[in-house]
Amino acid sequence: ATERTLSIIKPDATNRNLTGKINAKFEEAGLRIVAQKRIKLSMEQAGQFYEVHKERPFYGELCEFMASAPVVVQVLEGENAVAKNREVMGATNPAEAADGTIRKEFALSIGENSVHGSDAPETAAQEIAFFFSGLEIVG
Ligand code: CMP
Repeated sequence: ATERTLSIIKPDATNRNLTGKINAKFEEAGLRIVAQKRIKLSMEQAGQFYEVHKERPFYGELCEFMASAPVVVQVLEGENAVAKNREVMGATNPAEAADGTIRKEFALSIGENSVHGSDAPETAAQEIAFFFSGLEIVG
């Protein structure tokens, strides 16, 4: 089925001017960018977005990193978009990511791993609503 998922191009990638190269990977995989904006998250916004991880030891570091420089938030649409995006991103830890994936090619570490993608259709809906109003998504 046609799905939508929330993607974030993270500070390590925007710092290195990789937005276009990463978007090309999504488009080559058949994912359509139906909404996109470059924003700078506050610590509070980063903390709220990653609230599910707040008990994890890396939570503080994760929020500081996400608020350290601009991110590009985007809605990707396509057949099985959630799973397809996760395939294109590769494993969370770039050391474990398959050849040709975004994280294999561009990520620096498990924290500075260039992209975030929703992990399920239910979380995708919540994460999309966190950043976008319906009017901003043009399929
Ligand atoms: P993401 O998909 O954005 O969701 C949560 C993020 O936490 C994850 O990608 C990683 O970048 C980050 N993360 C996971 N494990 C660690 C870790 N051990 N140290 C630092 N960051 C981590």
